[in-house]
Amino acid sequence: MMSLRLCVSSVAMAAALLASRALAAYSSPPSLQVPACPHLSVASFNKTVPDQKDFPPTEVALCYGADTINLAFSAHNETNFYFNASQGTNDAIWEYEVMETFIAPGDKDPQTYLEFEVNPNNVTFQAFIYNPTKVRADGAPFETFYINNTLEAGFTAATMLDQDQQLWGSSVSIPLGLFNVDSGTAKGTKWRMNFFRTVVAPATFPDQTLGAWSSPNKASFHITPFFGHVEFI
Ligand SMILES: *[C@@H]1O[C@H](CO)[C@@H](O)[C@H](O)[C@H]1NC(C)=O
Ligand SMILES: *[C@@H]1O[C@H](CO)[C@@H](O)[C@H](O)[C@H]1NC(C)=O
Ligand SMILES: *[C@@H]1O[C@H](CO)[C@@H](O)[C@H](O)[C@H]1NC(C)=O
Ligand SMILES: *[C@@H]1O[C@H](CO)[C@@H](O)[C@H](O)[C@H]1NC(C)=O
Ligand SMILES: *[C@@H]1O[C@H](CO)[C@@H](O)[C@H](O)[C@H]1NC(C)=O
Repeated sequence: MMSLRLCVSSVAMAAALLASRALAAYSSPPSLQVPACPHLSVASFNKTVPDQKDFPPTEVALCYGADTINLAFSAHNETNFYFNASQGTNDAIWEYEVMETFIAPGDKDPQTYLEFEVNPNNVTFQAFIYNPTKVRADGAPFETFYINNTLEAGFTAATMLDQDQQLWGSSVSIPLGLFNVDSGTAKGTKWRMNFFRTVVAPATFPDQTLGAWSSPNKASFHITPFFGHVEFI
């Protein structure tokens, strides 16, 4: 009896191992458990989208509060700090260097999600995206709903640049009410999120190098089956 159980369980383990290898080959989205502030979880990445070459190390430390999701982005090995000084809130800052998060409540591949970006000049972009094909298919609807009054809406941002350390850090908070999460009720909620960074220099503009926590299979961030799974614990 004992040996049979052992035998069955080793077959099951081998099958589970094969399955996890197969999933890894298809780069199944990562998962992250996120605690209440002031504790933190960190999502980190250092590979390009989509070809998985070396990319400057990037970290996003996150936690949830009563009314906000708090994120601290760290861009290491930053040498360009490239932004367009004439751009302001909700302008096309993604053409230059940004760090980004895409966020949707729930566990399913989203059609609608918040797109949030910050650049080295502390300028932010925030809009809901409606992407019903989930992959931004050519010719399909793709709508952007801007949030322009960011301070009134409860967004915050703070940006720190350290040229000597090749470091760019931005700490931001995003209101939970945007996702119908009432004050103090975020514990136990599930989310789909991804984190991104763009790298470009004046000499290479507009050709960017892209990095992601969960790399899509194409050079596009708007492919929602690749969003990672996040749980607020
Ligand atoms: C990239 O990240 C992986 C996983 O976190 C780590 O093992 C590896 O050392 C990192 N590589 C570089 C060049 O930072
Ligand atoms: C990042 O910078 C460190 C220290 O300068 C260096 O050792 C490392 O190779 C760099 N990594 C990448 C991916 O540029
Ligand atoms: C910065 O943005 C402005 C306004 O969109 C544009 O006219 C200008 O050419 C941009 N500058 C650079 C260096 O890309
Ligand atoms: C909000 O910002 C977007 C992008 O800059 C702009 O196109 C739009 O006109 C703004 N909407 C309002 C109501 O100001
Ligand atoms: C960054 O922008 C925010 C508003 O979004 C502002 O409160 C903050 O003072 C700015 N400056 C720095 C250095 O972070």
